[in-house]
Amino acid sequence: MSDKLIIFDTTLRDGEQSPGASMTRDEKLRIARQLERLRVDVIEAGFAASSNGDFEAVQAIANAIKDSTVCSLSRANDRDISRAAEALKGASSARIHTFIATSPLHMEKKLRMTPDQVFEQARQSVRFARNLVGDVEFSPEDGYRSDLDFLCRVLEATIDEGATTINVPDTVGYAVPELYGNFIKLLRERIPNSDKAIWSVHCHNDLGMAVANSLAGVKLGGARQVECTINGLGERAGNCSLEEIVMAVKTRKDYFGLEMNIDAQHILAASRMVSQTTGFVVQPNKAVVGANAFAHASGIHQDGVLKARDTYEIMRAEDVGWTANKIVLGKLSGRNAFKQRLVELGVQMDSEADINTAFARFKELADRKADIFDEDILALASDDSVTHENEHYGFVSLSQHSETGERPHASVVFTVDGKEVSATSDGNGPVDASLKAIESHVNSGAEMVLYSVNAISGSTESQGEVTVRLQNSGRVVNGVGADPDIIVASAKAYLSALNKLHSKAERVPAQGWINP
Ligand code: KIV
Ligand code: ZN
Repeated sequence: MSDKLIIFDTTLRDGEQSPGASMTRDEKLRIARQLERLRVDVIEAGFAASSNGDFEAVQAIANAIKDSTVCSLSRANDRDISRAAEALKGASSARIHTFIATSPLHMEKKLRMTPDQVFEQARQSVRFARNLVGDVEFSPEDGYRSDLDFLCRVLEATIDEGATTINVPDTVGYAVPELYGNFIKLLRERIPNSDKAIWSVHCHNDLGMAVANSLAGVKLGGARQVECTINGLGERAGNCSLEEIVMAVKTRKDYFGLEMNIDAQHILAASRMVSQTTGFVVQPNKAVVGANAFAHASGIHQDGVLKARDTYEIMRAEDVGWTANKIVLGKLSGRNAFKQRLVELGVQMDSEADINTAFARFKELADRKADIFDEDILALASDDSVTHENEHYGFVSLSQHSETGERPHASVVFTVDGKEVSATSDGNGPVDASLKAIESHVNSGAEMVLYSVNAISGSTESQGEVTVRLQNSGRVVNGVGADPDIIVASAKAYLSALNKLHSKAERVPAQGWINP
């Protein structure tokens, strides 16, 4: 059996299915480039047939990425598979990942199909996909809760049709490590042609065991691909976290004995990029990428680490990209230094005009804030006014008055399709007044389901990064805004969320409640 573990990242597909985490094409492209830098083997870029936006994102990623295989999800039907193949045409290395549910519950209640129909659909889909690309992955959705005999029948047939990877999803996060590991082992033992495919694990985190289950699938079951996401992003409690899997396999090489292509030094930057893009904040005590992951607060621990770091540290912070907050640029930095830093951070700007806009914004920021950190640059680069993405509404200026004992009042100037408008309102606090002022003009009717503020680089001198999550007619979007003034950051975040609601892109849910 191979001693190489394939890392399959699905941040841009399963991760993006998390309500509010949907990303634009350019945001996905930026993250895909960071995943390539991280040297993940396979990037699942999206679900091409779900919407024109997702098709374009998969296509853009397929055309841009050279060192990782680019994959599109597709339901088990010819139309979805053709759409995936078309989006992947420009890829150096392409994979189609097709799936259909195999558990009794999903077949009966969701698909309304008999097991025999599902069997045929799975077989024909893999055959159809194999005629379009050489690299085909098949997933029996809700595989872990499927009948063992039926699952063996389906998997044997799909391997016969040419599936090169067989993925066994624990779709609802029901598994426990020993049972899941043994389940993979049993499947591999019982299916006569199992050695013709690479076995893969795909675990959800509903009981907090996605990483443990995946590792058991590898160690006990002999799987050689793990499907995971940056920061464990994903529906409900999320997916298996890439950074935890990678560092577990690396740190305990004595136990797992496996090699990976991953360049772990890029983990932290990937984590920050995903968090900043989606507005999903990383909890401070999150393993590997949380702010406290390598902080030694207690005196005894600090003393130990100073004497010999391995008294309390099993990994080196530098190995996953942690350095002391680096002051990267300042007021006197020139355009070339700024452009170079954008390249180092993996930010691709489409034109010199966009770089000029970003540089002008950087200079404005440097006038107000002495030290500019990488996080500031990443926040600036994803600002709607720099990317011009979906920029129906744009922030111009804001003034507000708040004083103890008085009701706060705000006046906001912003653009609607390039035309300036101003609006005023009072509110419970200055943020409330500012957002109500915007809403009084826009009348979106959206409900705010989340508002959060985070200091980008840790102190009160840092920029505040605000996330606003809005819900309207069943759609959930996140807007993110950054500014040293958190009221301005809030207004920017609100406008950014409104921009996303305004771009009406609809998509079919991946684990679709639609018969193939
Ligand atoms: O969780 C799941 O079952 C999936 C499949 C589509 C692979 O994400
Ligand atoms: Zn999943």
